[in-house]
Amino acid sequence: MSHPTDFNDRMLSLGLARVSEAAAIASAKLIGRGDEKAADQAAVNAMRDQLNMLDIAGVVVIGEGERDEAPMLYIGEEVGTGEGPAVDIALDPLEGTTLTAKDMPNALTVIAMGPRGSMLHAPDTYMEKLAIGPGYPEGIVTLDMDPATRVSALANAKRCQPSDITVCILERPRHEQMIEEVRGTGAAIRLITDGDVAGVMHCAEPDVTGIDMYMGRGGAPEGVLAAAALKCMGGQMFGQLVFRNDDERARAAKTGITDLDRIYSRDEMVTKDVIFSATGVTNGSILNGIKREVGWLTVETLLMRSKTGSVRKMVYRNPSR
Ligand code: FBP
Repeated sequence: MSHPTDFNDRMLSLGLARVSEAAAIASAKLIGRGDEKAADQAAVNAMRDQLNMLDIAGVVVIGEGERDEAPMLYIGEEVGTGEGPAVDIALDPLEGTTLTAKDMPNALTVIAMGPRGSMLHAPDTYMEKLAIGPGYPEGIVTLDMDPATRVSALANAKRCQPSDITVCILERPRHEQMIEEVRGTGAAIRLITDGDVAGVMHCAEPDVTGIDMYMGRGGAPEGVLAAAALKCMGGQMFGQLVFRNDDERARAAKTGITDLDRIYSRDEMVTKDVIFSATGVTNGSILNGIKREVGWLTVETLLMRSKTGSVRKMVYRNPSR
């Protein structure tokens, strides 16, 4: 049988949904069990097994870490049957391991796929992130602005008061000053304890989630995944890598990044059309989490294509064993 070599995003997307579904189903038994590692491992195993059934010549560009620290789904691992289009894959089998272990909202399984060379090979460092939803002129908020200026710029563009704006920020000591500055404008802040891919995605649907803007420092790999999601959902995002030591700078050099201060826009992080699938693990404002009934598991998946802007919400029911 011959396999197409073009990136047929339409057909591949359905296979991608199975991949994030499988990871979520595998982690179901570990929700609320206080074991982050076990939950993550279950999701990794299932995601990898399912990914290897797809007719693609895939390479993991955003994964579980460097080869020496992550035996599965490491950066550079080849996945898929090898028969089919050459694709790059960004994944996080369980985005929100602690959220899962503690049964807190918005844990997701996440995967994006695009043609070779479509996504920034972000090193495992931090990234300063800023995101807003669709419908605003390009660049009305930027990473160069201080947090308070970002809030007033967005309020002006939205024709509302800063006090009508809600900003989502990861609750970390490093964000204390940012939180103070945003609160100083009168804006509300939704603090999240983990899961900034979901945090950024919330900006794309402010009417549903109540969040207008995301800002703050989180994982760089999660930044690229969030940019892939926003490319499908609409919205602006900016990211700047943050290095804490020479080891992290060396990681960037290894991935070919030479300008360490560069601010990347959404489309500079994800340069070609991609497909994106996320499945809810715990309940959240974008996706319902896994529902467990005797004999059944029900999962909800968001499957999107940036080429068409199509967003499909799928509910899958599976006999639980
Ligand atoms: P895990 O799922 O690996 O636990 O990551 C969750 C997360 O909250 C990300 O969403 C975020 O980008 C990153 O961790 C923040 O890192 P840190 O916990 O070091 O502040």
